Amino acid sequence: MPGIVVVGAQWGDEGKGKATDQLGNRVDYTVRYSGGNNAGHTLVVNGEKYALHLLPSGILSPSSTPVIANGVVIDLDVLFEEIDGLSARGVDTSKLLISANAHIIASYHKVMDKVTERFLGNRRIGTTGRGIGPAYSDKINRLGIRVQDLFDEKILAQKVEAALEQKNHLLVKVYNRRAIEPAEVTEELLVHAERVRPMVTDVVRALNTALDQNRVVLFEGAQAHHLDVDHGTYPYVTSSNPIAAGACTGSGVGPMRIDRVIGIMKAYTTRVGEGPFPTELLDADGERLRQEGAEFGTTTGRNRRCGWFDALVVEAAVTANAFTDMFLTKLDILTGWEKIPVCVAYDVNGERTSTLPMTQTDFHHAVPVYEYLDGWTEDISGCRTFAELPKSTQAYVRRLEELVRCRISGIGVGPSREQVVMLHDLL
Ligand code: GDP
Ligand code: IMO
Ligand code: MG
Repeated sequence: MPGIVVVGAQWGDEGKGKATDQLGNRVDYTVRYSGGNNAGHTLVVNGEKYALHLLPSGILSPSSTPVIANGVVIDLDVLFEEIDGLSARGVDTSKLLISANAHIIASYHKVMDKVTERFLGNRRIGTTGRGIGPAYSDKINRLGIRVQDLFDEKILAQKVEAALEQKNHLLVKVYNRRAIEPAEVTEELLVHAERVRPMVTDVVRALNTALDQNRVVLFEGAQAHHLDVDHGTYPYVTSSNPIAAGACTGSGVGPMRIDRVIGIMKAYTTRVGEGPFPTELLDADGERLRQEGAEFGTTTGRNRRCGWFDALVVEAAVTANAFTDMFLTKLDILTGWEKIPVCVAYDVNGERTSTLPMTQTDFHHAVPVYEYLDGWTEDISGCRTFAELPKSTQAYVRRLEELVRCRISGIGVGPSREQVVMLHDLL
């Protein structure tokens, strides 16, 4: 089973980092294929907490080669800050490989991200402000700067100038800001050229050769299905394709080489930023989930919006990603509720539906229909087998499995690497 993709099944922060880390030493390559440092993956290994934004979680497993593939957008300042931070803690980062085709987030992308959000006012997306959308826009507009451009100063200068031409008009005439000097940006980028050079490789060839040799390649998704620019709650999405199919375009590996697709879902639902969220709790119950689940963003520190598990949301992700397995996280956080509501349908303008509505308008009007499952009071964080879980906890897991129409192969019962209950091997 050499090609495995891990994808968030909700709106991000499901615990993908921890789930990826479970495969740890059995993985030869861990590949980031989409997004950038808008991601925030927290892992707890041997009592030490690590927050990763751009590097794949596999960087913490000595046997695995970490890879940043073509589908990622790279902020070079963040890249080296993260590498230096990990090195200072004794983590070996020397094996990191970077695609020459990955795009670069320049300082002007961050400026554009912030000014456009401000300009949108109450129609804002609630982005992370990391320049993600503007960097991907430039990529699609064919005005992007790629890693390989760092090695040709003349070309780099030309490309930066071209990328800034329109933006400077916008900045000065629409947003009332000062124009950005292309030469300054070129200098900023060139500072990193020599340090990044030895990491740059033909990632497509490296990954396909590894797969030819039956090595295990893990594609680590960032963000989630419902933040996907094509399949998510557009326009309240990120600007890339985090879904499983994105692993192919984002790394240059054909779909026939993917053997397993693992969806990660939290035992309840959270979302950061704007956009529809039918099961959101704006009351004391939502605040309790936030406090007990420590639902504060890893990247921006914002409060995560919290609500009950929404089976329609996850089932839609199961359908479009063809998940072979689900990994259920943070089940321990639900300890102590007498009854746990689970959304099994929506009422939309007087009609009941058990699948996600097709249009944005209907989704905005969706009123959740709940089934109330029995809760439990026992501390489950020490459980390591399914049989050790209380009967009502087992029933909660089995009901979710039925509702989302995919087997649950792993369950997180705490933040640490060893706090899991495995039902089926993920490899
Ligand atoms: P990601 O973006 O999907 O990798 O998720 P984040 O790291 O942003 O958020 C998940 C948070 O939940 C992190 O702080 C993890 O340490 C924590 N976490 C992951 N799995 C579990 C679990 O099973 N139980 C508990 N209590 N915490 C978990
Ligand atoms: P991980 O990998 C949760 C959200 C932002 C915003 C929208 C667009 O940790 O699960 P962007 O900066 O990408 O243009 O913002 O997407 N968002 C995330 N929410 N987890 C993430 O990553 C996210 N990455 C982006 O909050 O609503
Ligand atoms: Mg996160």
